[in-house]
Amino acid sequence: WCLLFFLSFFICLMCFCLCCSLSFQNTVKSNIYISHTGRHYNFCHFQPLTLKEAYEEHLLLKSIAWPETPPLPFPLYLSKTSDPSRSTFTILSGRGGGQWHKGDNLEVLVKMYDFHGHPKKSGGDVLLARLHHPTLGAGVAGQVMDHLNGSYSTVFYLPWEGNAEVEVTLVHPSEAVTVLHRLTKKHPDRIYFKSLFRSGSISEITTCNVCLRPTQRPVCNYTDLRTGEPWFCYKPENLSCDARIDHSKGKLKRSFMTMETLFQRGINMKVFIPASGSANVTVLPKKKGKAQFLLHGLKSRPSGYYYRGVWRALHGTTVHQFNTSSAISQCLKGKVVHMYGDSTIRQWFEYFNTTLPDLKEFNLHGQKKTGPYMALDDAHNILVTYRCHGPPIRFSKVPVSELRYIANELDSVTGGSDTVVVLGIWAHFSTFPIELYIRRLQSIRRAVVRLLSRAPDTRVVIRTANPKNLTLYETITNSDWYSLQQDKVLKTMFKGLNVHLVDAWEMVVAHYLPHSLHPQPPIIENMINVLLSYICPKKG
Ligand SMILES: *[C@@H]1O[C@H](CO)[C@@H](O)[C@H](O)[C@H]1NC(C)=O
Ligand SMILES: *[C@@H]1O[C@H](CO)[C@@H](O)[C@H](O)[C@H]1NC(C)=O
Ligand SMILES: *[C@@H]1O[C@H](CO)[C@@H](O)[C@H](O)[C@H]1NC(C)=O
Ligand SMILES: *[C@@H]1O[C@H](CO)[C@@H](O)[C@H](O)[C@H]1NC(C)=O
Ligand SMILES: *[C@@H]1O[C@H](CO)[C@@H](O)[C@H](O)[C@H]1NC(C)=O
Ligand SMILES: *[C@@H]1O[C@H](CO)[C@@H](O)[C@H](O)[C@H]1NC(C)=O
Ligand SMILES: *[C@@H]1O[C@H](CO)[C@@H](O)[C@H](O)[C@H]1NC(C)=O
Repeated sequence: WCLLFFLSFFICLMCFCLCCSLSFQNTVKSNIYISHTGRHYNFCHFQPLTLKEAYEEHLLLKSIAWPETPPLPFPLYLSKTSDPSRSTFTILSGRGGGQWHKGDNLEVLVKMYDFHGHPKKSGGDVLLARLHHPTLGAGVAGQVMDHLNGSYSTVFYLPWEGNAEVEVTLVHPSEAVTVLHRLTKKHPDRIYFKSLFRSGSISEITTCNVCLRPTQRPVCNYTDLRTGEPWFCYKPENLSCDARIDHSKGKLKRSFMTMETLFQRGINMKVFIPASGSANVTVLPKKKGKAQFLLHGLKSRPSGYYYRGVWRALHGTTVHQFNTSSAISQCLKGKVVHMYGDSTIRQWFEYFNTTLPDLKEFNLHGQKKTGPYMALDDAHNILVTYRCHGPPIRFSKVPVSELRYIANELDSVTGGSDTVVVLGIWAHFSTFPIELYIRRLQSIRRAVVRLLSRAPDTRVVIRTANPKNLTLYETITNSDWYSLQQDKVLKTMFKGLNVHLVDAWEMVVAHYLPHSLHPQPPIIENMINVLLSYICPKKG
C-alpha cells in the first residue's frame, strides 16, 4: 500500500502543480534538507489531513527546511563550531560603487569562522540582521540568505536618509540547530502537562500531552470533536476520564545540560558578529526615477521600519499614532474586540486595560494571568475580551471548562463591521513538531474563512511570533529557531485572506530594545498603533 500511497500522492502533486498558483518564497537555495521523514515522534497524535492540506503541509515543510548541518563532534568541543567573534561581515559596495540612495538595497556579506579560526564550509547558522541609527530612532530588519558554504548575504532595504549602522547577530551556530532539531524529534514531550482528576474525596494527577508515550496504562482521549485537535491524558487509576478538573504545565522533563556548550550567552548564542571594515553607510536622498534592483531574488520589502521610534509600514495600511487614550477610545467606539491566544496577546489586553481609563475590567474569578478577561467601556460602548488558546498551553491551572480552541470560539462570533478579532498563537508550540502548529493554524484558518464569509466586514488581525531573550532553558523550550519557522508558516498560511498581520518578528528585530518574549512598552505601543490603524484606517 506504500506504493499506492506514493502513486496517489504523486498524482495529487501533479494536479496541484498544474492548477494551483501558490507562490512560496525560497530562502534556502539548495535541495539538501533535514529530512522530515523518519521522525521519532510517532507517539505524537496528529489529526489526519485532507489531500489538499497534506500538500500544503508538504510545501510548508519544504519552505522552512533548514540545511543539513555536519554531525556533532563527540565529546562536544566548540573547536569546529561557529565562533561569532572570529566571524566577520563586510558591506559590499554594490552597483552604486559604494554610494547608496534611499530606497536602494544594501548587501552585506557574512563569513563564518570556527573557534580555531578556520572558515566554515557549510551553512545553517541562525543569523539576525538589523540596520539602525540610534539617535534617529531608526531601525529595519534585514533578510538573510544562506549560501550553504559558510557565507551568508544579508540584504537591507534603505528606508531613511543619513547614517545607518549594520548589526549582525549569531543566534545559534549551525551545530546548535542540529541539537534543537534532534530534541524535537526525540523529546517532543520535554515539557509535560498535567491534569487534576477529582470526584468526592478521591483525587489524582496524571500526565497529559499530544505526544503521550504509550505505556501499559489506559489513556483518556480528549480529542476535540469539532476541530479534531488531539489531546490525551493517562487515565487515573481510580477515577473515570470524566473527572478531569483542570490543565496545567509541568516542568521540563529531564536535564539537557550536557548541551550547554552550544548555548552560551555571550559566546555562541545571541552574539554580535564584528564588521571587517566599516559597519556604517551614509544613505543619500532618493534618486528620481531610479529603477529598483533586486539582490538574490529577494524581492519582498520588509514590512516596515522605525523612524524616530515610530513604526512605519512599507506596504498596506499607513500607521497612525494613537498616542492618547481618547484617540484610542475614539477608534474603538462601538466596537467589540475579541482577543485569543497566548500571553503575547494578553499583553495587548493589559495595554488597553491600563491605557483606557474608562475601560473597566470585570473580575471573572479566573486565575490571574490565565483569564478569561472581559473589560467594558460603557461611555464609548467598547467591549474587550481575552481568552487563552486551547492545549498545548503552558499556563498554570486552567479549568477544563475554560479550555477552548480558538476555532470553536470563532464559530460563536457573529462578526460584522463592529467586530475585531485579534489572534496570537505561537509560543506554546515550540517544543512540538511543527506539524502540530500547521494543523492548529489550518483549523483556525477554516474558522476565520467561515467568519469572513458570514460577516465579511469583520476585522481580523493576527500577531506573529517574535525573537526573545534566550537562556539555556528558554532555548530548549522556545528557541528563536523554532519561532522563526512558526513565523514563516503563519505568514504563508494567512496569505491571500482578508486578515491583517502585525509583524511582531520584524518589529522586535528592528527595534533597539533587547529581544524579549514580552516586548517592552515602546514596542507594544507601536504594535497597538498598527492594530488600531487596521481597525481605523482613516483616523477620525
Ligand atoms: C558609525 O560608526 C561610528 C564609529 O565606529 C559609531 O560611533 C557610530 O555610532 C556609528 N553609527 C552611526 C549610525 O553613525
Ligand atoms: C559561497 O557561495 C556564494 C554564492 O554562491 C559565493 O559568492 C561565494 O564566493 C562562496 N564562498 C566561498 C568561500 O566559497
Ligand atoms: C481519539 O478520539 C478521536 C475522536 O473520537 C478519534 O478520532 C481518535 O482515533 C481517538 N484516538 C485514539 C488514539 O484513540
Ligand atoms: C487506587 O485505589 C487503590 C485501592 O484503594 C489504592 O491502593 C491506590 O493507591 C489508588 N491509586 C491512586 C493512584 O490513588
Ligand atoms: C501624537 O501623534 C500626533 C500625530 O498623530 C503628533 O502630532 C503628536 O505630537 C503626538 N503626541 C505625542 C505626545 O507623542
Ligand atoms: C486591569 O486593570 C485593573 C485596574 O488597574 C487591574 O486591577 C487588573 O488586574 C487589570 N487586569 C489585567 C488583566 O491586567
Ligand atoms: C536575559 O536573560 C538573562 C539571563 O536570565 C538576564 O540576565 C538578562 O538580564 C536578560 N536580559 C533582558 C534584556 O531581559
